[in-house]
Amino acid sequence: MKVQIVEVGPRDGLQNEKEVVATPDKIQLINHLAAAGLTRIEATSFVNPKWIPQLADAVEVMNGITFGPGVTYSALVPNLRGLERVKETRLQEVAVFMSASEKHNMSNINKTIEDTFPVLAEVVKEATGLGLRVRGYVSTVFGCPYEGNVPIEQSLRVTEALFEMGCFEVSIGDTIGVATPLQVHEKFAALVREFGAERLAGHFHDTRGTGLANVVAALEEGIRILDSSIGGLGGCPYAPGASGNISTEDLVYLLHGMGYETGVDEGKLTQAGLYIQNQLGRTLPSKVLQANIAQACN
Ligand code: HMG
Ligand code: MG
Repeated sequence: MKVQIVEVGPRDGLQNEKEVVATPDKIQLINHLAAAGLTRIEATSFVNPKWIPQLADAVEVMNGITFGPGVTYSALVPNLRGLERVKETRLQEVAVFMSASEKHNMSNINKTIEDTFPVLAEVVKEATGLGLRVRGYVSTVFGCPYEGNVPIEQSLRVTEALFEMGCFEVSIGDTIGVATPLQVHEKFAALVREFGAERLAGHFHDTRGTGLANVVAALEEGIRILDSSIGGLGGCPYAPGASGNISTEDLVYLLHGMGYETGVDEGKLTQAGLYIQNQLGRTLPSKVLQANIAQACN
């Protein structure tokens, strides 16, 4: 049984770091991740650099990495202006994103949900025309920092719109890490009924420590694509209180222990986590990373 891991650390992780990480360090990190066997890497983001200064070097990062064989690199793109910059790179995939809740959508991308649809539809159309495949994200499916509970109907509507635009896959986001397994079962059951498990991904932030329990619930609903971030880096700067994604090291450890194949080499993954931990100069949240470092020191 295989599970695809989408590594989002260089984007979702770094976008929340206050200190700007040097471009060569980002490039090294991405190369480490590919060397560890990760075959889907969200490398950066072509959003407005005024909104996310950390990722202003998206073109330089994409043009600096060594494209690993069999690895698909992706990046966030919010509009046609972002897609223009993508044309300066060799990216194979882009991702569009919006929220299931109105207020988070407004704070994150400065538009109502209704006004976002045509903007993303033109990005998907043009990107597809360029031969890129397009992933979609729905944020705040399990809760919104401004509106609280988000009815499933809103998530179904946005997910459907993203598929209709031409996204090949939609990642379902617990942006602020409030989900619990019961909720994951309920929401994913409804989404899977509507769209099928094979084109849905789970994107869990581990803000309240329920991330891996939510992964198990998603696996039980048939989900086989999971997003995670090296070291557990991350968050959404426009969702107050959001902290890191589930860590890739913890996810891989869990999945391998449950008998799933990921293609990831745990030793090389530790090297990648250690690399970015050293660059950032602080202890990262990943429990497995810290355990592996401690074990290596004994
Ligand atoms: P806006 O300011 O409303 O944009 O931002 P605008 O269209 O009015 O343009 C204003 C200026 O920005 C113009 O320049 C544009 O050219 C420029 P001016 O004419 O004034 O000189 N501009 C750009 N420049 C470079 N690249 C661009 C770009 N776009 C506009 N792409 C916009 C609207 C959507 C662009 C902005 O709100 C934005 O960039 N938001 C992104 C916020 C973000 O990155 N959030 C985090 C990612 S989402 C996330 O983390 C959730 C996820 O992980 C899933 C989950 O956890 O749930 C995916
Ligand atoms: Mg996220």
